[in-house]
Amino acid sequence: MYEHDVLVIGGGGAGLRAAIAAHEEGADVAIVTKLHPVRSHTGAAEGGINAALRDADSWEDHAYDTMKGSDFLGDAPAIETFAQDAPDEVIQLEHWGMPFSREDDGRVSQRPFGGLSFPRTTYAGAETGHHLLHTMYEQCVKRGIEVYDEWYVSNLAVTDHDDPEERQCHGVVAFDIKTGEIEGFRADGGVILATGGLGQVFDHTTNAVANTGDGPAMAYRAGVPVEDMEMIQFHPTTLPSTGVLISEGVRGEGGILYNEDGERFMFEHGYANNEGELASRDVVSRAELTEVNEGRGIEDEYVHLDMRHLGEERILDRLENILHLAEDFEGVDGLDEPMPVKPGQHYAMGGIEVDENGETCIDGLYAAGECACVSMHGANRLGGNALPELLVFGARAGWHAADRDMETAQIETGPSASVEKDEIDTPVSPGAVDAGDEDVAADGGPDVDDSGPRHATDGGALVEADEVIEHHVTAEKQRIEELLERDEGVNHAEIRADVQETMTENVNVFREEGALKEALEDLRVARERYQDVYVRDPSRTFNTDIIHTIETRNIIDLAECITLGALAREEFRGAHWRKEHQERKDDEWIKHTMLQWNEGSPDLYYKPVLLDGENKSYEPKERSY
Ligand code: FUM
Repeated sequence: MYEHDVLVIGGGGAGLRAAIAAHEEGADVAIVTKLHPVRSHTGAAEGGINAALRDADSWEDHAYDTMKGSDFLGDAPAIETFAQDAPDEVIQLEHWGMPFSREDDGRVSQRPFGGLSFPRTTYAGAETGHHLLHTMYEQCVKRGIEVYDEWYVSNLAVTDHDDPEERQCHGVVAFDIKTGEIEGFRADGGVILATGGLGQVFDHTTNAVANTGDGPAMAYRAGVPVEDMEMIQFHPTTLPSTGVLISEGVRGEGGILYNEDGERFMFEHGYANNEGELASRDVVSRAELTEVNEGRGIEDEYVHLDMRHLGEERILDRLENILHLAEDFEGVDGLDEPMPVKPGQHYAMGGIEVDENGETCIDGLYAAGECACVSMHGANRLGGNALPELLVFGARAGWHAADRDMETAQIETGPSASVEKDEIDTPVSPGAVDAGDEDVAADGGPDVDDSGPRHATDGGALVEADEVIEHHVTAEKQRIEELLERDEGVNHAEIRADVQETMTENVNVFREEGALKEALEDLRVARERYQDVYVRDPSRTFNTDIIHTIETRNIIDLAECITLGALAREEFRGAHWRKEHQERKDDEWIKHTMLQWNEGSPDLYYKPVLLDGENKSYEPKERSY
């Protein structure tokens, strides 16, 4: 068994920042990650990092823009903490050597991004995430922070108390991808999940293949509520054939969207008469799809993004990476031609419920970055707010896990915080295939208890951390052995493809009840087929087949959460558009949708949104751009 004070799961931006923060507090911290840190998906972030740095700007304006962007579903304590801490984080990066783009006078450049009332997006060309990742990785190397790379964390070592809020996380179980060894890791201070996005739930996404939502799925099955899972961001400018992101920075610099008739439709069709292309993402994505659906799309699929008028010098200076992406993935020269773009899944606003210090309702378990929901993005994230979020809340989680004395969080977590329970009408039972059975059988492979935290011996409570971890290691070894021993069944790739297809078809930008129910039916079939999942490659060395098989269970669980949340929320707010419910219903729906795994079944409840900040209350207003 490996032992550390703090374990960070994931080596992307949130994970690296959390590790550095924990190390600053003197903790023995280690990162466990399925990729090498600099291959993490943060490296694909293009556009930038929002922070109120100039005299003419203020954290209060940044907070307001973020709350408005969230369509009043963000929690004010999280948003204000974020907007106040973001400038220090950017300055910190600058001191660590991040190669920001600069003005002639040497100041860090900032550009306009959608939904911002001030051009406050700092950037490093159109490869900001890449530089951020390398800058922070250097800091980890400098500090000697241990990294277990190519170790896949497949389970949390959590005690078995009936009440999830009484449970404790002692560590994790991980699979060494290089050797097939399965080992326990103990963390005496805390485990911080920083596993990033879940884009692989959809088949047209900007996310990497590694973004399979491992953290939220593991936390959910351990009893931590997941919050606002229906809130999925579809980025308006992705390349049609691959989903590769074309940064909002293009529109920030002045890029223009045209339909097939050459109309600048954001203005000409009245989608956003003030901000046009720089309206917030949900608005632009709906506008593009409306153009396509009404017959003004190009090849019935996409619209054009034109940056030619910006001129070669400016493009090469600020957006060079975009030229390479358009050329390499779409065969288009952005200096000579407009680029084809369409909406694609980009970001999960929801995730593991945490407070401002990154704590979940399970003692010793934290989360930060995209896998977490603090909640500051609410129903729609503003471009350029993801990177500062992972810095601010990654740091806070790291400090807290390493015992820094911090202010008590205002956001309450866990179902005992004021709760309104609900049940919705679903065409099939969601949750584990054998949910409710006395001896809950496998949903995650043969003979595996997938109903919640593992039980030790005859239901007796586990009190010793090592015992808890050993128990989980044994269960995981058994699960993997059984998966490897099967010699026939269904390959994970088929199941995954079916899930992605139904989610993209039925739980996309435009949602309606019948389609959401159809998705739930398809997901049920996927769960049943997963009972017979079969790993073709029996080897122990770099067996990606087994990793993808385990990930696919996570994808199924999260797809179901997204769909259940979407069916429950009977209103139109931010990224969540419902055909039958065409208005934002503030009287009823200023609340978070929460799902908690209970003996294999998802329990649905709501908790109120916190609109009261430090000095002001955020009054919901009509959101127009
Ligand atoms: O468009 C972009 O460059 C993406 C930025 C973001 O998602 O924050």
